[in-house]
Amino acid sequence: MKLLIDSADVDAIRHILEFYPIDGVTTNPTILKKAGRPPFAALKEIKALIGGAQLHVQAVSRDAAGMVEEGRSIAASLGENTFVKIPSVPEGFKAMRILAGEGINVTATAVYTPMQAYLAGMCGARYAAPYVNRIDNMGYDGVQAAKDIHDIFEKNRMGCQVLAASFKNSRQVLELCKYGIGAATAGPDIIEGFVKDPAIASAVEAFIRDFEDLAGPGQTMASL
Ligand code: E4P
Repeated sequence: MKLLIDSADVDAIRHILEFYPIDGVTTNPTILKKAGRPPFAALKEIKALIGGAQLHVQAVSRDAAGMVEEGRSIAASLGENTFVKIPSVPEGFKAMRILAGEGINVTATAVYTPMQAYLAGMCGARYAAPYVNRIDNMGYDGVQAAKDIHDIFEKNRMGCQVLAASFKNSRQVLELCKYGIGAATAGPDIIEGFVKDPAIASAVEAFIRDFEDLAGPGQTMASL
């Protein structure tokens, strides 16, 4: 499973990239609004930080012609490994086919049902992004929906993968990692939550104290 950061906060992205193995960054209009900067300025700075890793950027037009125009512009401005996020609605499916036909990477977004993902895959999308936590909040099972979409893609031998999104806790990501989905995108707080446990910090501290008791304060294996 690839792991991406769902954020447009350049400082938070830089911090996560320093410590964790990350395959890219996903954004949406709400995330860009939170960053509070002109969209392309923020996106180009993110692109410079992540180099050749994936960058997913959403089109906002209501009709297919507008989505296609935006998709071309996003791909041309941000270059290699850019994915244009297109909402999985009727106009979006029309746009996906055109963009995919031009060789532009498409991520189908706003996926709430497995059949939306199936249609997106048939339209040439490379990824489909089920909104796990939002589906949970509707009273359904978001993790199960993402697993079902993974199975649909595998069993129908489609060239599309799950990019699960909208997580509110580490367990949702863990369940999908165990299932071997294509990718998950999570906020910096969720990614840091994978290793945020007092037991982990305390175990590491105990090893350091024991070593210093043995070899002397401040000593390490490199200083002996
Ligand atoms: C990513 O593709 C989605 O836009 C994002 O994860 C939605 O997350 P939210 O439900 O926390 O807004």
